[in-house]
Amino acid sequence: MKKCFFLFLLVSVGVQSQTDSTRLQWFNDAKLGIFIHWGMYAVNGTSESWSFHNGTVPYDTYMHQMKGFTANRFDPEAWAALIQESGARYAVITTQHHDGLALWNTLELTPYPSKSDWNTSFPNSTYPAAKNALWDAKKPLSTIYQTPAARDLITPVSNALRKKGIHFGAYYSLLDWSHGDYPKFLKETDRYQITQDPQRWNRFLRFMHRQIAEINTQFSPDLYWFDGDWEHTEAEWGASTIDSIIHTSNPKAILNGRLPSYGDYSTPEQNMPITHPEKKSWELCLTSNESWGYQPTDTHYKTTNEVLRIFTECLNMGGNLLLDIGPKADGTIPEEQVRLLKEIGRWTNKHAEAIYGTNAGLPYGHYHGNSTLSKDRKTLYLFVNAVRPDGTPAQASIDLMLKGVKNQVVSAEVLGTTTNVPVKTVGKISWSRVPGTLFLNVPAEALDAEITVVKIVLDTSLDLYRGQGGFH
Ligand code: GLC
Repeated sequence: MKKCFFLFLLVSVGVQSQTDSTRLQWFNDAKLGIFIHWGMYAVNGTSESWSFHNGTVPYDTYMHQMKGFTANRFDPEAWAALIQESGARYAVITTQHHDGLALWNTLELTPYPSKSDWNTSFPNSTYPAAKNALWDAKKPLSTIYQTPAARDLITPVSNALRKKGIHFGAYYSLLDWSHGDYPKFLKETDRYQITQDPQRWNRFLRFMHRQIAEINTQFSPDLYWFDGDWEHTEAEWGASTIDSIIHTSNPKAILNGRLPSYGDYSTPEQNMPITHPEKKSWELCLTSNESWGYQPTDTHYKTTNEVLRIFTECLNMGGNLLLDIGPKADGTIPEEQVRLLKEIGRWTNKHAEAIYGTNAGLPYGHYHGNSTLSKDRKTLYLFVNAVRPDGTPAQASIDLMLKGVKNQVVSAEVLGTTTNVPVKTVGKISWSRVPGTLFLNVPAEALDAEITVVKIVLDTSLDLYRGQGGFH
């Protein structure tokens, strides 16, 4: 009987983890995603939500940006086409940032800040009641009712993406600094503490959980990208309720790691991980300049080469890159970001087989650079950054060194070209099991303008020598 029980347990755990890895398969294979931060903050080009929270912009000035949020040149099909051209296989859009403005058709009402909360947070400013109201609190705080865009902007985005086979992800901020029942308002001020007024907190929770249910019903997102979790514990957010709201009707949905016990993958932000992130699946989210939303004064863009080098670092560690763009208030995408996505697309398209559906590359010590491995472990892809400081490709051939590969090399070529890469083996002792060191000479004329990929086909599944050298 006992044995049976343990057997059952083993089988069900096995089934569970198998279904989990099947559920995460598309995400693990997708490698590149585009993050879209779009909201009222694009109107004045201030930082998304943080500008009022940190007091660099008065709250009323910030919220008045809604009056300029027109989306009058918004072309969701053009967005989806650009995202597809970049080679991204999923996109994540802000359905609602920390400022509380919903971009979809929410029916939930956001209570207006009360006079006393206002006076505590802004002792020197007059309470904007009635005709100066920041928003019409009888209607939901959404782009439909409170902005000249006057419509739900998420439906067209999700439809256009899915039409192109791109997975749809919904970013949603758990915290909502505009909501009259949310404890925190500005960095220095709280409306109240949960322990002082649990009922008020429960009202907020009901609102937030219902919004998530709306998003789930209206879009059935392939992925949820929660943010703003740091202000409360998972228990306070009602994370298990959120999990069941989503998974009861949308069992395949993937959750990012900002509700850690329920998250499927780790989400390092801006900074490259040096050691493997906590969860097996992971994604680095990265701005294309230094801002998430549209900020025209921020011209500190990463070069295409920098983004691609970061991307290949992610690939090497088996992770994804979620690269951010910040559309303008009229819905157009800044030209620097369009160019960046197109240039990335040129590269991803040429090197697709070294990117999508691959696994992490060689462990440290075998090759001084990034690499990926095909799922059957028979093809190795080495990434070579061969750009000179002025951005032009290197002019001389490049000699790569690869150590500890026990397999026979069947062929080596520059991916996306017809150029073969001569392979020379040195230091092989005929009677020792230790493999020789390989030198691969990549001809200058086959180098890519950004990152060159050398494809190495092996006779059998990759077999690495991990010893201390010498004869054994
Ligand atoms: C941070 C910020 C937020 C941004 C997010 C994207 O958590 O709060 O503004 O949307 O990063 O990762």
